[in-house]
Amino acid sequence: MTTLKDIQLLKLPVVEDTRGNLAFIQNDVLPFEFKRVYYLFDVPSNSFRGSHSHINQSEVLIALSGSFEVVLNDGFEKKSFFLNKPNIGLYIPTGMWRELENFSSGAVCLVFASDIYNEDDYIRDFDEFLMSKK
Ligand code: TYD
Repeated sequence: MTTLKDIQLLKLPVVEDTRGNLAFIQNDVLPFEFKRVYYLFDVPSNSFRGSHSHINQSEVLIALSGSFEVVLNDGFEKKSFFLNKPNIGLYIPTGMWRELENFSSGAVCLVFASDIYNEDDYIRDFDEFLMSKK
């Protein structure tokens, strides 16, 4: 059973250069092999994203541009992460309820996921999530 302790902030490799910095992601950088990349953009500042957990899939979230908050709940306690650096990845293991909120203007949330999109992997009802953690 995953808990908040399993969450990790990953420092991503960056090649610094006076011409501009370059960060890269490859499979040995993440705690899982990714099969999907997606991103959120043009998110209104009063909008909430997420509100679900995953049964088997893990994800890493990166604030590629701007900032936003990720509130993670393991069914017992919750913790908030403010993401605003393109070289930091928030690793969210399976079984973690997430809310994404307070998007700054121009924020882009890049997500690496351990599998292709599958609605059956989602728990979108909070009570059902709490039951799954018992
Ligand atoms: P949703 O899970 O509600 O987004 P978020 O959790 O980031 O707020 O997904 C919104 C819609 O997009 C939903 O109909 C499913 C679809 N979707 C895909 O088709 N592929 C994907 O990789 C993702 C993440 C979502």
